[in-house]
Amino acid sequence: MFTKAIVRTPAPSMVNGLTSAQLGKPDYNLAIKQHAEYIKALESCGLDVICLDADPDFPDSTFVEDVALLTANSAIITNPGALSRRGEVKGMRAILDDYYTQIYAIQSPGTLEAGDVMMVGTHFYIGLSERTNRNGAEQLIANLESYELSGSVVELKDVLHLKTGVAYLEHNNLVACGEFLSHPDFQEFNLIPIDATESYAANCIWVNDTVLVPLGFPKTREAIRSVGYQTVEIDVSEFQKLDGGLSCLSLRF
Ligand code: GLY
Repeated sequence: MFTKAIVRTPAPSMVNGLTSAQLGKPDYNLAIKQHAEYIKALESCGLDVICLDADPDFPDSTFVEDVALLTANSAIITNPGALSRRGEVKGMRAILDDYYTQIYAIQSPGTLEAGDVMMVGTHFYIGLSERTNRNGAEQLIANLESYELSGSVVELKDVLHLKTGVAYLEHNNLVACGEFLSHPDFQEFNLIPIDATESYAANCIWVNDTVLVPLGFPKTREAIRSVGYQTVEIDVSEFQKLDGGLSCLSLRF
């Protein structure tokens, strides 16, 4: 169970964030409203939400998930593969000192963005992407192993981050779309297939047995409900325009 989440208020500079989505510029005022609703949803799942101030120097800094991996024992500060995001780690390190005594950092030439890391119990799947390289993944695996955890790499083909296409919902249930539906690493799970027309909704999050799903993806919502979860829908259209999803907007621990 999670008890806390860290989020960061979007800065007006978010309109210049990285994207390949071709959905237009985000509406900043709407993004602020959607972010507030996102916080409320996390709170409704029982989390204390720590909301960091907007950081206008970093347009993508609202996507806090990419800059740290939080485990039960330690925090690992990442080294984002996107150069424009690398400086985001300083602000995250400062806050994590309040919650963790064991804090590590991925070092260059290793790169890692934690949107590429999916926790399944004591095992961590690490996507090799344009943002996360093998050296970064190996540093993370070595760190995990020092805590009797484990990690393995997954080569990505089409997605930005691993969790763009898969989401673990506990109880052996795995939401998956596209390249992950037939991926050998994931065949042991109870796969919840996501229709290609709703691929954005594969980025959903389990929070204490409720699943947060993006608004506007009814097939996904029903597929997740059909295996017994209660769902909460949240409109994150302005973050979708920046290739960002529900998981990217918080660190849950
Ligand atoms: N806009 C989020 C990212 O590309 O990292």
